[in-house]
Amino acid sequence: MALVTFSNPEYKDKTVYAVAGSHTETLLKLAKEHKVPVHHDCQDGECGNCVVRVTSVDNKPSMGYHLTDKEITVLRHLGKLTKDDIDRLAVDDMPSEWRLACQMIVRDEDILVEY
Ligand code: FES
Repeated sequence: MALVTFSNPEYKDKTVYAVAGSHTETLLKLAKEHKVPVHHDCQDGECGNCVVRVTSVDNKPSMGYHLTDKEITVLRHLGKLTKDDIDRLAVDDMPSEWRLACQMIVRDEDILVEY
């Protein structure tokens, strides 16, 4: 089972379990279920309000992630991804630290989410 720790300087850190194996639950849905106040608006990868920084905290190699085209467009617009980052992501299939919580599917790994 994955441990997801939400961290924000204005709130006490909150660690929750994500259901492993479903591969359908977004980070934003998990935050809402546990009353973690991650900002959001559209919930559809368009507004960028739910941008978070995600880092792996277990000792396993990071899992590859597929960023949707919407997510890449919004993260680029927000200045969180450069053209070089996008090229690197396409080649290495390695996750960007910056994600949209409404687009990121929670995987079976322990992560720190700064919001
Ligand atoms: Fe709008 Fe995630 S809530 S992009």
